[in-house]
Amino acid sequence: MNKRFYVTTPIYYVNAEPHIGHAYTTIVADVLNRFYGLGGSETFFLTGTDEHGDKIVAAAEKEGQSPSEYVDRISAMFRALWPKLNITNDYFIRTTDQAHRETVAQILTMVKDKGDIYFSEYEGRYCFGCERFYTERELVGGKCPDHLTEPQMIRESNYFFRMSRYQQWLIDHIHKHPDFIRPKRYKNEVLSFLSEPLEDLCISRPKSRLRWGITLPFDENYVTYVWFDALINYISALQFPDGKLFQTFWPVAQHVIAKDILKPHGIYWPCMLKSAGIEPYQHLNVHGYWNINEGKMSKSLGNVVKPLDLAGIYGLDAFRYFLLRDMVFGLDSEFSEEALVARINADLANDLGNLVSRSLTMVQKYFQGTVPDPGPPEEPDNRLKEASLNMIDLYAGFMVDLGFHKALMAVWDVIGQVNKYIDSMAPWELAKADRDRLATVMVHIVESLRIISVLIWPFMPSSAEKIQGALGFSRIGGALRLDDIREWGRIGASKEVSKSFQLFPRIEMKGKKESMKTQETETVTEDKGMISFEEFQKLDLRIGIIQEAETIPKSKKLIRLKVNIGEDRTVVAGIAGYYSAEDLVGKQVVVVANLVPAKLMGVESKGMVLAAEDETGVHLLIPDAETRPGSRIK
Ligand code: ME8
Repeated sequence: MNKRFYVTTPIYYVNAEPHIGHAYTTIVADVLNRFYGLGGSETFFLTGTDEHGDKIVAAAEKEGQSPSEYVDRISAMFRALWPKLNITNDYFIRTTDQAHRETVAQILTMVKDKGDIYFSEYEGRYCFGCERFYTERELVGGKCPDHLTEPQMIRESNYFFRMSRYQQWLIDHIHKHPDFIRPKRYKNEVLSFLSEPLEDLCISRPKSRLRWGITLPFDENYVTYVWFDALINYISALQFPDGKLFQTFWPVAQHVIAKDILKPHGIYWPCMLKSAGIEPYQHLNVHGYWNINEGKMSKSLGNVVKPLDLAGIYGLDAFRYFLLRDMVFGLDSEFSEEALVARINADLANDLGNLVSRSLTMVQKYFQGTVPDPGPPEEPDNRLKEASLNMIDLYAGFMVDLGFHKALMAVWDVIGQVNKYIDSMAPWELAKADRDRLATVMVHIVESLRIISVLIWPFMPSSAEKIQGALGFSRIGGALRLDDIREWGRIGASKEVSKSFQLFPRIEMKGKKESMKTQETETVTEDKGMISFEEFQKLDLRIGIIQEAETIPKSKKLIRLKVNIGEDRTVVAGIAGYYSAEDLVGKQVVVVANLVPAKLMGVESKGMVLAAEDETGVHLLIPDAETRPGSRIK
């Protein structure tokens, strides 16, 4: 892994409030930044706002504000959003910053001195939304493919950047550095664009038409084209040319963008850098769009999903996890709240959440909250250890290649393996029969969980830290590195473990369920003697754990049970002929929790324990893995 890492997001236009598209890119950058931090790299993470140009002037006018009042307000909104999404950028750049404006003027002078800027008259099709001229070839049905509007013919004198001069150099550079633009599909897109002659780039706008920009250092009557200004943020933020940051981080620069701005980043920017005598960036990482109802989300289309709303409803970590797990980096993804809820319930509440709560419960219950000393490992323990340790490199390999969903799948594969290991080792049985073995098993569970918690940290920092806090170790303050977790047994003995808790509550989608129910009802009730799904759902079946049991005097069959089903309940069960009272204590059972209370031999029973009867006797229904008391049965 590189010793150093520099990641940037696009600087967002302040003509719209942030939505999940912006949140996704910025969370990706944050995840990468945290991951490289874990790997021991020195990191720098930049985001910011793009504040010049026609669009911004139009947005300010619409709100009845001056451009500068307006950009201050919206830029502050972006700046305030990021910490709320647990984004840990090192710097926030604004293109209206004085230092940035000076760097832009400096680069323009360098490019002009190189002989790469000339003045000429131009007539072309201009899209005001994109703030650029379009060639005939780029239009789709005569319209801008992004804004679906017809560009206007404009004729004016302007300054041009001799981009065509760098076409062959760029083609060669891309061939020599196959990972320069990734994933491959975007590299191919750029190469295909470069297979036709590259036109020079118009880099000025006359002040008679636009005043809100950076004045050209060599002509007072013009401002700089917004893209020429904006791209330079990636080096002005590092205090180009003499700043230590620039020397340290520019050689390892990685940009993260969506495919909408591939051309400026994949073509203009490397050519600008080359002309100014600066090495190009290391990687351009390009992702697809979050779509809603099969269309791109955008302010102009009015189908915007606000990140804070979702994080507020579903939890920030769950939201971050979903975005990174559901989108394959590079491809488009369809956003829906149903998909979000399904992920939360399956991966977070069920797989990870249960693993955490049952592990903590067991250390509490069997070892009074202290991780014990392990005995000699056996075959299944070694297998789990190996899977957990192998996961680290597998995960790291995927992360470096932007395969976030694969990295998470590798972790979830091990989460599944730990859950299965618990089921097959059955610690609740070992607790009765073999405490030494129980100790070894417990340590293997906790150790795997420790590694898992570190690997999920870039994605879900607060949940990871909660798990680490509960396990009695913490990474907070950057203490832990990927290399530390390769050392099995680091938690060691005598580590205090906290009480069990629910990391991710399950989420019910009320509205959707209602409509599903109606469908089920219609199909099922046609059969006489059957109950509908709706009727079945009225049953409140829950997992309980028997805390006390005593036979009821003068009754042959009845036993009074105190069962914890998330709360304590007295339940009378007719199983005395088959189970002794002491055998029952500690057993997990299934309880009908919403039965009308009934008095049996003078004892009020609030619920019923489920059992099956055959010729060999009565057998209680017991879950096949220790399950949290109060869990609902569906
Ligand atoms: O283009 N899906 O700013 P911008 C995924 N200021 N990502 C999305 C998205 C979607 N539906 N919508 C937006 C600009 N994004 C320029 C950049 S950089 C020198 C100048 C994200 O506010 C994605 O990262 O229009 C996309 O590239 C960026 O927002 C565009 O942001």
